[in-house]
This record gives sequence, C-alpha cells and structure tokens, in this order.
Amino acid sequence: MDFQDHYANMAVVVRHTAQREPVVEVLEAIYSRHAMRDYAPEMPVTETIQSLVKAAVQAPSAMNLQPWAFAVVRGRDRLTSISDPAKAHLLRTMAAGSPLSSLRERLADPSFDIFYGAPVLIIICATSSEAGASEDCALAAQNLMLAAHSEGLGTCWIGLARPWLNEAMAKEELRLPTGYAPVAPIILGYPKGQPEVHPRQDPEIVWIGE
Ligand SMILES: Cc1cc2nc3c(=O)[nH]c(=O)nc-3n(C[C@H](O)[C@H](O)[C@H](O)COP(=O)(O)O)c2cc1C
Repeated sequence: MDFQDHYANMAVVVRHTAQREPVVEVLEAIYSRHAMRDYAPEMPVTETIQSLVKAAVQAPSAMNLQPWAFAVVRGRDRLTSISDPAKAHLLRTMAAGSPLSSLRERLADPSFDIFYGAPVLIIICATSSEAGASEDCALAAQNLMLAAHSEGLGTCWIGLARPWLNEAMAKEELRLPTGYAPVAPIILGYPKGQPEVHPRQDPEIVWIGE
C-alpha cells in the first residue's frame, strides 16, 4: 500500500469511526511543525520525496487546475550553486528601506548558506499565469511541509531564493521551462538540532453574524 492509499484508507476509517471526534493527527502535525534550520547530511530516499510530492498535490487548487510542478534539487554542491547567486542577486537588487536590509551583512557573509545545509530543495513552481496559481502552490507547499514533518523530516520555506530562481539565467541553469514561476522553494532533510519555536500572536477574528 503506498502513502496515498494509506491516507485515503485512514480518511475512510476516520469518517466511519470518529464523526464527532477531532482528527488529532492533523492538529498535532500542525502544532508541532516548525521551520528547521539545521540538517544532517543524509539524503532522503527518492521514494520518500515522491510520496511527499504526492501528498503536496492533494492540496485544493482553484478549479482543480493543479497549476504546479516540483523541481527537486539534490546534493549540497548544487544547493550551494543556488545559494551563492541568490544572495548576490538579493544584495544587488535590494531596494533602500526594504525589510531585507537587516539581512545585508548576513547575505554578504560567504559562509552563510540560505539553505542551512539541507540536502534537498524542492522548488514548487506555478505552471500557469492564471490568477490563483501562486496560492495553489502555497497550499501544496503547506501539505508538503506537514507530510514531511509527519515522516520525521524537517522543512523550511526559503523565500530568499525566490527572486533569483525567477531570473531567466537561473531557469536556464536549472533547466526549468521559462514559463514556470518558482513560488515556494522548500528545503528538506533530516533534522540535526531542535527547531526554534516561534509563538503566534492571538489572531484577530472579526465575527460577523451569530
Ligand atoms: C513565504 C515565506 C518565506 C520564508 N522565507 C524564509 C527564508 O528565506 N529563510 C528562512 O530561514 N525562513 C524563511 N521562512 C520561514 C519563516 O521564517 C517561518 O515560517 C516563521 O518564522 C515561523 O516559524 P515556524 O515556521 O517555525 O512556525 C519563510 C516562510 C514563508 C512562509
């Protein structure tokens, strides 16, 4: 039974047995996932990465268009060859007063790896310019991050990589079709340390009606 069948069966069991009970596994995963910024060098096996992508595409998408593709970059050297130009690009293009300015010194540090030593980068790309394609990719990214967490893997969305990944030269280097737009660069790997926990503020809720 593969990953997808397992979870499809689980959903059936949940429907039949727990109509009034919360599905704690999902909430546990949501509450215990944290961005991981410290990785062991071990490479997750191909089948695991494939199963995470399968979980990602269970996300809803507008009109079920599924406007996404997943570029899987493996190996530290390849990730470094993205981290270095991505940092240089940010330093070159950063507007004065940008919130990123506070990162200027860090980005200029040759030893700073924007991918934190992770062995894998999954770039979720919008494959269409339809309105909503980026949102669909973000939903797929969250599915992927939660599925990875449930498999004992760490992830972190690396927005710092996005501007360079959208450059024509980067797409050429990575052999990404020019019409694809990288939306969610997600690093993946086995956690080495413990993630930092960032508490949330109380959300503002505007109640309308009863
Ligand atoms: C769109 C987006 C871009 C992000 N970019 C980066 C990044 O470039 N580098 C990084 O270390 N973390 C990045 N993060 C991770 C956030 O900093 C992190 O999710 C946030 O601090 C909350 O922490 P948590 O994920 O552990 O709950 C990004 C997250 C999102 C959603």
